[in-house]
Amino acid sequence: MAATIIDGKGFAATVREKVAAHVARLKDENGITPGLAVVLVGEDPASQVYVRAKGKQTTEVGMNSYEHKLEADTSEADLLAVIDKLNNDPTVHGILVQLPLPKHLNEDLIINSVAPAKDVDGFHISNVGLLGTGQKSMVPCTPLGCLMMLRDHHGSLSGLNAVVIGRSNIVGKPMAQLLLGDSCTVTIAHSRTKDLADVVRRADIVVAAVGRAEMVPGDWIKQGATVIDVGINRIEAPEKGLKEDGSVKTRLVGDVDFVSCSERAGAITPVPGGVGPMTIACLLANTVTACCRANG
Ligand code: GUN
Repeated sequence: MAATIIDGKGFAATVREKVAAHVARLKDENGITPGLAVVLVGEDPASQVYVRAKGKQTTEVGMNSYEHKLEADTSEADLLAVIDKLNNDPTVHGILVQLPLPKHLNEDLIINSVAPAKDVDGFHISNVGLLGTGQKSMVPCTPLGCLMMLRDHHGSLSGLNAVVIGRSNIVGKPMAQLLLGDSCTVTIAHSRTKDLADVVRRADIVVAAVGRAEMVPGDWIKQGATVIDVGINRIEAPEKGLKEDGSVKTRLVGDVDFVSCSERAGAITPVPGGVGPMTIACLLANTVTACCRANG
């Protein structure tokens, strides 16, 4: 039977509606408007697209958006000064420093200079520690979005075998912590994992977050499993023809082979329209959470 398609785009719209309603209440009842500051260093084209989308959606739900665009050669001291100012600005409730940063900047140092209470990415070492010990923390947006879709689809995740493919700090590791928090039996697989196919075949839940186009084929998927595809990869699509400049057109694909995986999965997220839209929706939700915590 064909898999249920998990509609991340629709789910994200619902999350944004709830956030907008919460923002309106905060304004009416407390006179507070949540504010999100996004810091972009340099001109990475993909980061520019993400930052623009974040700013647009922030204002659409009624929050204040503050964009800080800095030159690619900004010094560490200057970037730290910008973050320090935002940390001490009471109108800013959430701070996000867009990654990756230019090579001359120490990413760990920068991430850990954001006030933990304003760290809406959940990347600060103290939020990582709080999440790992099951305490109240800011939770990274992409894994949070995946968890929300899994809970919505399954109800309880308790006792399910979950395999997370990928061990990044942004997705793989926090995803594993969240699934463990929901009482899954969790395996983190990665590039050195032996017999990856066998590991994935035991999973009731597969979260693919490796950044390699269509690397998970359908015959790795247990019949009826839920597949969450975090990958966003652009590949050449000769079947779509040529662009005006003569180059081959492209299309977006995930880390799983959607066609063959959806023949065996019980449910699957598409790319695009699955995990992607949930990430920004969760960023907005985290900003409201940070604002509420800051104002008691
Ligand atoms: N770059 C890619 N994903 C992310 C994210 O979730 N947060 C930040 N800050 N940068 C990113």
